[in-house]
Amino acid sequence: MAGRIPQSFINDLLARVDIVEVVGSRITLKKAGKDHQALCPFHNEKTPSFTVSQDKQFYHCFGCGANGTPLTFLMEHDGMDFVEAVEWLAKLVGVEVPRERGSRPAPDRTDLYDVLEATDRFFRGALKNSAAAVSYLKDRGLTGLVARDFGIGYAPDEWHALQQALSETMPRAGEKDLLEAGVLTRSDAGRVYDRFRGRITFPIRDTRGRIIGFGGRVLGKEQGPKYLNSPETPVFHKGREVYGLFEARKANRSLERLVLVEGYMDVVALAQAGITNAVATLGTSPTADHFQKLYRYAPEVICCFDGDAAGRQAAWRALEQGLSELRDGRQLKFMFLPEGEDPDSIVRKEGEQGFLGRLAAAQPAIEYMFSRLSADLDLNSLDDQARLATLLLPQIEKVPEGILKQLMHNRLHTLTGFQPQSGGRRPASSASRPSKPTRLPPLTRRLVASTLQRPQLVLDLAEDVRDALGAGSGVLEDLVGYIVANPECDTAELVGRWMGHELESQLRQLAQRASGLSDDAQRAEFQDGAVRYLAQRETADRRALLADLKEQPTADNLRKYWDRRQGRGSGE
Ligand code: GTP
Ligand code: MN
Repeated sequence: MAGRIPQSFINDLLARVDIVEVVGSRITLKKAGKDHQALCPFHNEKTPSFTVSQDKQFYHCFGCGANGTPLTFLMEHDGMDFVEAVEWLAKLVGVEVPRERGSRPAPDRTDLYDVLEATDRFFRGALKNSAAAVSYLKDRGLTGLVARDFGIGYAPDEWHALQQALSETMPRAGEKDLLEAGVLTRSDAGRVYDRFRGRITFPIRDTRGRIIGFGGRVLGKEQGPKYLNSPETPVFHKGREVYGLFEARKANRSLERLVLVEGYMDVVALAQAGITNAVATLGTSPTADHFQKLYRYAPEVICCFDGDAAGRQAAWRALEQGLSELRDGRQLKFMFLPEGEDPDSIVRKEGEQGFLGRLAAAQPAIEYMFSRLSADLDLNSLDDQARLATLLLPQIEKVPEGILKQLMHNRLHTLTGFQPQSGGRRPASSASRPSKPTRLPPLTRRLVASTLQRPQLVLDLAEDVRDALGAGSGVLEDLVGYIVANPECDTAELVGRWMGHELESQLRQLAQRASGLSDDAQRAEFQDGAVRYLAQRETADRRALLADLKEQPTADNLRKYWDRRQGRGSGE
């Protein structure tokens, strides 16, 4: 690892960059007063609630609560890690990133990238000199143009060709660096030699275009594994990278969808046919990390699978990994190919139009899930309805809160009659009080909005109204109680109390809602509303007590009920 980046440098850096420039380089900002606004890039919305403040050098979304600095924006939006984001900002303002000296000076990562670049140059050069490799690629239908776009190369079938070439072109890189970059390997007996030999090579790039590793395919049907990948290195993590993403972004100004296939050759063959938005995992089934990465660049992902049992299994695994990334506005679709075919063979048989037709007919993964799980079930039978609900619920629970999840719950309800409890944490409620709905009722919303915006309104209430309002366990009760105990508190503090709660985003919206009333009118409305709220709460409580009494006609319940009727609250 390189040395730590001094905190003072990060502070200086944040002082020098402009958040409007950083965010504006990624999404379109519109000036609104002294701030800038945009459709939030972190959730799907139709009206902008994403605000960038130049004064505060801070962004905030009132819809989904995303907020932070230029650094967090680059990390969340572009998927950079912390060091990458610091480096990006440093480049923007034209300064070098200093490193603190650790006890043990660590090798610099840029050296690995240099080694990988040099290796890539060597492989590409070697391809030109290998008639066998060139004719293999030609036989598979690739043109020189596509080979160049993807940087396809060839690793000569020798033990030390690369090592030798690099010792000339990169004399400062030692054996240790080449081993660390994964381009050399060491046998059990301790012999060091070229990892890729006699293979077509595919450079794997990160989203910034830097080469981080290679895949290599044997020519024809030689023995040994068909494909070989770079090992895990400080810059290459197989489970997170996708092949072809950089190339897809380069070939398309904006990506509406990405097509996820299995193999290197599928990606390249599709590009050759004009379908330039395909990417592949590196010989592993897709993980949630993969989906997270793909959805950062396109709102729709279509996965291609074989049409056989293995393909169906792969689809199910993909579904389980993808559900947690299906925030509103994102789509996951599945496409199954005829048995024995892969995207490479299909696009060569059916051409671009044929493949596009198949993509257009891809099935939403959610539909697939419902139909697969309800296949062989008799949904008129109670047993099977329960079975389906049991199978579906854990899957639905993986989906982030939102419209899609709601629709899935509704569908489950239609199919099985089963009404799932809405997910998430509930505010504590006394047993006799009906449980709180996820969306607050209108009067409560109005009062909560005013309370959040002008805590002083609570302090201006008549004392008895205020005390009654602060007693209890609802969201309004909580806010009022807090304001009475902390008269100096402000909106941010109040909203902050509900951070992480299912009501948080609703509260953020309410805190932001314009009342459209003058201060005096708002105060009058608030006072009137508070009284009506108390009356409603009283009625609801009495009903609940009455229901308790009917169900359990105990002396205790009877006493509670009569206390209420006579206006003697039991004092919570
Ligand atoms: P072609 O035979 O060249 O068309 O390759 P393919 O892309 O159709 O290969 P296949 O469907 O067999 O494999 C899909 C992907 O799995 C490949 O692109 C590799 O990433 C990976 N893979 C296949 N075979 C091996 C192997 O022997 N070792 C490793 N590590 N990965 C493999
Ligand atoms: Mn293939």
